Amino acid sequence: MSPIEQVIINKKTDLNPIWIMRQAGRYLPEFRDIRKVNTDFIKLCLNQNLSSEITLQPLKRFNFDAAIIFSDILMLPYGLGQKVEFEKNFGPKLGELNLDKITKVDEIDFIEKIYNVYKAIKKVSSDPILKNKNTIGFVGAPWTLLVYMINQQSPKKKLKENFFKDEFLINRILLIIEKFLKIHIKQQVANGANIIQIFDSWAGLLSEKELPNYVYTPTLNLVNYVKSLNVPVICFPREIKNYKEFCNIVRPDVISIDYNVDPKEILKNIKIPIQGGLNPKILLSDKETLKKETKKYLEIFNNHPYIFNLGHGVLPETKPEMVEYMVRIVREYK
Ligand code: CP3
Repeated sequence: MSPIEQVIINKKTDLNPIWIMRQAGRYLPEFRDIRKVNTDFIKLCLNQNLSSEITLQPLKRFNFDAAIIFSDILMLPYGLGQKVEFEKNFGPKLGELNLDKITKVDEIDFIEKIYNVYKAIKKVSSDPILKNKNTIGFVGAPWTLLVYMINQQSPKKKLKENFFKDEFLINRILLIIEKFLKIHIKQQVANGANIIQIFDSWAGLLSEKELPNYVYTPTLNLVNYVKSLNVPVICFPREIKNYKEFCNIVRPDVISIDYNVDPKEILKNIKIPIQGGLNPKILLSDKETLKKETKKYLEIFNNHPYIFNLGHGVLPETKPEMVEYMVRIVREYK
């Protein structure tokens, strides 16, 4: 059993498992070399040779316990036929959402359009470097995908005005998202993903009374679906105010915490395995600070099942040398 799986079933491990969100990405010069000559991000995700190579890049450098497949949560709207582009220094830019068109997409159309993502997962998961490690498949949570599909760009701090105006459209789209997320998860698992992480990057935008409808219910449906495939599921409801309530209702196998969460508080409130927490900005500081902050999380979670990770994705300005140092601290900690 891999170190991450041992943590998930609550076993004490000799070594602390570690991987980091966005580990395959712009902080690695070998990624930037590939990216420079592959200017279309979606095309790069759909190039199975390159995307599997990029997925394995961080594992070749660092002793991580998992590969997370190089793809994007926005492959879902792309697979449904909504235009998705990534603009430098702007982020994702989506086209107009056409309900009639999206309603007509069937399972086969969708799978065909993003088939190479699954082929890349197959390639990665059968690579010898993954022996006793995990291949993490992922999806965006229904709420976060709804945000991108309707807002057509990152919402930064708030949603566009009238976001909730067309309730009929929103409820229809949510159901379509949920249906295709299940298909997307099933295909990832069939091709070798042995953990699924659900990213709800914009959960923090909702008020308490909106959470059941947009976050708890649709995410619970997905969590139950992943469990029915006998695969562990990690949830990352970023910046949600009440992680305890989320865990009680949604019941993921692991909860990934953002960097605003007080680790000591969460330890008091949550019984299931915990992942993450460290502010990615700490990796931009100096080695002393990095050591101190990394050890802080390891000490607090010393007697709790814990997967080391960050509280959000690693920043592009991060020096790989700092990541290497952090991995060493985590590995050597007893
Ligand atoms: O973690 C990994 O290494 C695996 C690959 C991965 C990417 N995106 C690659 C990517 C994963 C798991 C994601 C998830 C994702 N994508 C989320 C959830 C996590 C989070 O960060 O909150 C979200 C919200 C997206 C949507 C998205 N994709 C945004 C907002 C952006 C632009 C901003 C940015 O960080 O560049 C992307 C582009 C993207 N996705 C890049 C990568 C490596 C950068 C592409 C580039 O080279 O320009």
